[in-house]
This record gives sequence, structure tokens and C-alpha cells, in this order.
Amino acid sequence: GYEFPRSDAEFPKLLNDSLLQSANGTKPTDLACPPPIWIMRQAGRYLPEFQAVRRQHSFFTVCRTPELACEVTLQPIRRYDGLLDASIIFSDILVVPQAMGMQVEMLAGSGPHFPNPLLGPEDAQRRILDRETDVFAELKYVYAAVTKTRHGLEGKVPLIGFCAGPWTLFGYMVEGGGSRTWEKAKAWTYKHEESAHAVLQRIAEVSAEYLVGQVQAGAQLLQVFDTNADCLTPHGFSTFILPYLRLLPTLVRSRLAALPTPLPCPPMTVFAKGATLPTQLSALSQSGYQTVGLDWTVPPRYAREHTASRVALQGNVDPSVLLGGRDAIKREVRRVCWGPDGFLTCSREGIEGGWIVNLGHGITPGVDPEDARYFLERVRKECSKKTKD
Ligand code: CP3
Repeated sequence: GYEFPRSDAEFPKLLNDSLLQSANGTKPTDLACPPPIWIMRQAGRYLPEFQAVRRQHSFFTVCRTPELACEVTLQPIRRYDGLLDASIIFSDILVVPQAMGMQVEMLAGSGPHFPNPLLGPEDAQRRILDRETDVFAELKYVYAAVTKTRHGLEGKVPLIGFCAGPWTLFGYMVEGGGSRTWEKAKAWTYKHEESAHAVLQRIAEVSAEYLVGQVQAGAQLLQVFDTNADCLTPHGFSTFILPYLRLLPTLVRSRLAALPTPLPCPPMTVFAKGATLPTQLSALSQSGYQTVGLDWTVPPRYAREHTASRVALQGNVDPSVLLGGRDAIKREVRRVCWGPDGFLTCSREGIEGGWIVNLGHGITPGVDPEDARYFLERVRKECSKKTKD
């Protein structure tokens, strides 16, 4: 049986804390200190070594087998030796609905599929609200993968744990898979508001417990992916998304402090894709997270204006640029750094706040891994300059 490590001191010493410094706001934001870099979905199908593992094992088998999850987490760290400043545990956001008793399959080509989605308030009451979730029993395979991966990383880079924003999971649980419009989930919020709140609350509570377990297992930063934050009205965002995003760090912090051996809360990142209005960025930067992730539609300067120096920003190179060839990669990296609204131009002008370089969403399966390497190298190059040349 799996047991949490007794103390963080059991793990190899962390040799590169660039990510944690940016997220904690302890890194000097002057240009002498280059920002950390990682790539959302950096372990994935664009890597031939990942595809080789997937030919042998189903998606959820990889997630559920600590040796395999550890191996694919380490693949990009190995391949891009010294070019990445973080790893993210290989898993999926949909392991949480599985833990809550829902069946989820990963279909080749079409993505996640729930054979029995939630049909309505009565169904949700019976299958979700009237049922207890033993988070440790259901998800200890992730904890085992986290602990194993912390050892496997040998302190090279920190390990990120993650979960989904409650709204994104609610969407999958109601729609039964991905959706262009998320209209069933949205209809639920209009027709059965109270029930939507009760389900979102339960998802948030289970997710918070899951994040706490990942920290106990060795995760050094936590990211919340609210990929579907773009489908509601601004009022819907304030009502069904933001309160539950806020609840996660509140619960994680208090539960970590209440453990028999209390643990400090690691830095947390919120990536609410599509939440780009001034009021939304401002609210996200005051929601208990130390970093706000940006999608590619937001100019860095505008994001700084609306988050002040309250948080570090993460992002936000357009993932499609990696499909656009080397010239485009070079040009776009330069623009994000040194364009009139770029991150480094802002730093240069004395606008404060950390930056964690990333894409504005996950890397896509069609990317040539050597183009991804070129992206990482170009970021290093641009970030080692003191001014735009
Ligand atoms: O490297 C990493 O970033 C860690 C692994 C990771 C995966 N999924 C692996 C994965 C992470 C952080 C996720 C998060 C996730 N999963 C999100 C939020 C982030 C985002 O990209 O929007 C969402 C919405 C999901 C749900 C999900 N899982 C979808 C919609 C799909 C199918 C679409 C796709 O990109 O393939 C998955 C499958 C999935 N999750 C794959 C991987 C590597 C590919 C499936 C395969 O190997 O067959």
C-alpha cells in the first residue's frame, strides 16, 4: 500500500527553483534574472517516445501505473535537458470524476467519453451528492506517481500537481465529453441553479482534497485548469466559475494547515482560459492564487494593467505558432518578449511582476519536437538580452 512520505526532506534537493521563485514573487523581476519556462501538455502525443508508451498501454493505464506516469512525465525533461524549468505530473483532469464514481473512457481520435453523463438534478443527487468519495483510496495511484516522479527528477526541476476548475469538470460530467457549446451544462445553470451550485461545491471539495494529497505526496506547485471558462456570460463567470476557483486555495490552505504535521501551501496557478475581461483578470489576481495563466488572446501589457503586481503571469505564446515554422516561432517569441506590449518591454519600463513563460494553451499533437526545442531555445535567447535589439 502507498503511504505519503514522512517529510519533504526525503526527496532529492531541488537544484532549480526558478519556477517557485517567480510564482512566490521572490525572483528579482529585473532583466538579469531570466524567467522560468515550461509547456502545458509537455508530456504528450507530439513526442514519439510518448506514442511508443501509448502503443503498449491505454491512456488511463498510463495514468494509473506510477512507473508509466513517472516515465512519461520525465520524457520531456530528458529530451529537453536543461531547457525546461518545471515538470507536470502525467495524469488527466478527468480522474476526479472517475474517483466520484463516473465512468470515463478515452477514445482514440475523439477524446474523453462518459457512457453515463449526469442527466439532471435527481440523477446528480443520487450519483454525486448522496455518495461519499474516498479520495485517498480512489486517487492514491496519482499520489504514488507524484512521489515516484519527485525521486525520478533528482531535484532537476520542481514537480507541478494539478486538477480542473469545477466548472470545466461539471461541463464534462453533464455533456458526457467535449462540446463546442457546452449547452447542456449551461442549460442546467439556467434551469436548476441550486443544483448546479451543489454539484460545483462538491466537485470543489473533492478537488481540494485531491490537491492536498498531491502536496503531501510531493507536488511543489499546483495548477488549476479551467479550460471552459470561456463559455459563460460575464455574469455566469462570476456566479458559477469564480466562487469555486476561489474556494480551492482557501480549502487547500486550511486543510494543509490542519494536518497532524501541518504543511505550508505551495504556490498555486489559475489558468481560466477565456477569462480575459479586465474585471475577470482583476478578480483572478485576487482569488488566492500567486500566478494567473493567460491564453494567447491577451496582450501581456493589458494583463499586467489589470492584475497590477499582485501576481506572476504565465503564458502566453499562441500554441499554433509551433506549427508555423521556425521563422514564425522566432518572430512570435520576440513579440511576446520585446513587442510594444511584451513581457520584457513591460519589465524594462519598470512594470513589476514575475513571468513564467508558457504557451497560451497546451502543445498540440502535430508539433515537431525539434520545433518545440527551437521555441525553448529562442525564449532563452530573447530573455538573455537586456533590451530589444
Ligand atoms: O503534460 C501535461 O500537461 C500533463 C498531462 C495532462 C493531460 N491532460 C494529458 C493528456 C494535463 C495537464 C491534462 C489536462 C486536461 N485534460 C485538460 C485541461 C488542459 C487543457 O488542455 O485544456 C482537459 C480539458 C483535459 C481533458 C482531456 N484529456 C481532453 C479534452 C483530451 C483529448 C484531447 C487531446 O488533447 O487529446 C484528453 C486526453 C489527454 N490528456 C491526452 C494527454 C496526453 C492525449 C490522449 C492520448 O494519449 O490518447
